[in-house]
Amino acid sequence: MKKDFLSLLDLDECELESIVADAVRLKRLKSAGTAHEYLKGRSLGMIFEKASTRTRVSFEVGMSDLGGHALFLNPPQDMQLGRGEEIRDTARVLARYVDAVMIRAYSHATIEEFARYANVPVVNGLSDRLHPPCQVLADIMTLSERFGDLHGLKLAWVGDGNNVCNSWILSSALTGMEIAIASPPALPAEGRDRRPGTGDGRKGHRRRDPDEAVRDADVLYTDIWVSMGDEQERAERLQALKGYTIDSRLLTQASPDALVMHCLPAHRGGEEITDEVMEGPQSIVWDQAENRLHAQKALLVRLVAGGMPA
Ligand code: CP
Ligand code: NVA
Repeated sequence: MKKDFLSLLDLDECELESIVADAVRLKRLKSAGTAHEYLKGRSLGMIFEKASTRTRVSFEVGMSDLGGHALFLNPPQDMQLGRGEEIRDTARVLARYVDAVMIRAYSHATIEEFARYANVPVVNGLSDRLHPPCQVLADIMTLSERFGDLHGLKLAWVGDGNNVCNSWILSSALTGMEIAIASPPALPAEGRDRRPGTGDGRKGHRRRDPDEAVRDADVLYTDIWVSMGDEQERAERLQALKGYTIDSRLLTQASPDALVMHCLPAHRGGEEITDEVMEGPQSIVWDQAENRLHAQKALLVRLVAGGMPA
């Protein structure tokens, strides 16, 4: 296993499979009320340049469940980073105190630089380029609970070709899922994630219209139209994304039992998803949110302690 988890491609297929299996075990242990303090006495630093509900709470509760401790650090208010201390200096100092660091940053380069200088595992908690691999890790766990083997399943992404979409594209190299993308020409996934010559096996991101993308899809996925950091483009984005809402009509074009996913937070009604679909029987958004906790615990145990005891 690599030192850091900055992208899903930091895992190979075996590692992904075993982290998901550990996450399922941890979920059972928690639900049975069985102690699982595999990170007793360990600490996680959590740096948030941007807002968060799920990532912050799931990492913090996760560390507490594991017998460890998490520190919430907000650079503008609480850290010298906000007053010009360099990332490379902060990284080396924090690594002397904590056992791992999770960072949510505006720029992916910030997370990469931090990881380069920190002598402890660094986890991407979202960047402009890739939503935490942790989100898609939890989503893969959620889909495995429903489908078992994911190979050959089709996931249709409908909406902004953003950081979460980019992580899904990368995931196909590990899961064998087909990822069909319906995003407007002005907001393509490839535009933010082009890594020429990396040979990372990404596939299935030819742009399609929403009806074509969702045809026979097993999973429909969407995300907010105005991501954190894109607020100044709000009007143009809403204009470009008209017609890319997951609503009841679009859902009827997918496989009859298709599941609907959203990483949350959602803007329902008028934007990426209707209230009816999000509250409907095919929506699994709350399971996704819950599995952030279990999947990240499995990831942290793997990164910090080398994995769960057999
Ligand atoms: N999905 C997700 O990462 O949510 P938060 O922004 O609330 O952490
Ligand atoms: N694409 C969204 C995800 C939020 C969890 C953003 O970057 O704001």
